[in-house]
Amino acid sequence: VTPIRVALLGAGTVGSATARLIVEQQEELAQRIGRPLELVGVACLDPSEVNVPWIDKSLLTTDTAGLCTKADIVIELIGGTTAAYTFVMKAIESGASVVTANKALIAKYGPEIYAAAEAHHVDFYFEAAVAGAIPIVRPLRESMVGDKITSIMGIVNGTTNYILDEMTTKGLDFDVALKDAQAKGYAEADPTGDIEGEDAANKAAIMSSLAFHTDVRIDDVAVEGITQITADDIAAATAENKVIKLLAVCENTEAGISTRVYPALIPNEHPLASVHGSFNAVFVKAEAADDLMFYGRGAGGAPTASAVVGDVVTEARHITHGCVGPVIPMYANLPKAPLGVG
Ligand code: HSE
Repeated sequence: VTPIRVALLGAGTVGSATARLIVEQQEELAQRIGRPLELVGVACLDPSEVNVPWIDKSLLTTDTAGLCTKADIVIELIGGTTAAYTFVMKAIESGASVVTANKALIAKYGPEIYAAAEAHHVDFYFEAAVAGAIPIVRPLRESMVGDKITSIMGIVNGTTNYILDEMTTKGLDFDVALKDAQAKGYAEADPTGDIEGEDAANKAAIMSSLAFHTDVRIDDVAVEGITQITADDIAAATAENKVIKLLAVCENTEAGISTRVYPALIPNEHPLASVHGSFNAVFVKAEAADDLMFYGRGAGGAPTASAVVGDVVTEARHITHGCVGPVIPMYANLPKAPLGVG
């Protein structure tokens, strides 16, 4: 059986966790796809800095552009919007499908990339770009596409939620909490975008575009981050039985599509108040479906890699079978517990 060639661009927190899931679950994934995945290369800036046992040193390369032309699926996890855009376009033009977690890239160049993918008959998946492990892109893009979404409200940045939560529940200083969030792998390489709200704004732009079927980019989002929030603000909120949360709000209003990110006071009894640490939550309102709620880990290597590899498997099934599955025979040999046991 010919393997599906997978190229990984980036070996940072999410890249490394993605390689781990692909390598360590090789057999299970091959069963679920119907063909094995072969990691054909891992592009990074400095191979000497990649030292994890599940990435074979011989796979490391600095020839990112070259690697883009040698795969069926290219996973872009280098971040940023300059080199990432060049490589994603190169991959698409070479006939590869692309999976990315890069919200800044999509919030800046989404429509150009969708058009290129369509022109080259390849797929472009980005479940991990919004709210880490939480499935929210696919619901907006596919599951709810037959409905009319009216609003989305959510906590979509794990770093700022972690910082605000630590300040509120442990009285930690902003800077200490931020360092902690960086150490846990929640923050972006440059955490400015997290704390100033740009990361959440990128995600809000993506959600608005998908929900309202229109072109919303980062510059269309009104943004206020959490850098101005002081310990006194937190204490004042606590005294009123409220918490401060960084919210992303997307609405289809009479004045037009409104997309914004800002720190908001939330009453303690509201479900968003109990979203702690790096967890995210997204509420969606739609005319036919009514209210939906999504909750889970919004940042970190393994949770984000879970969404990335989900997209890779989906695309690998599509390439293999011409449809996305599920591949039923994989269940055939699993023992079944007696009825009612378990
Ligand atoms: N830095 C991001 C966050 C990572 O804190 O949510 C996930 O997109």
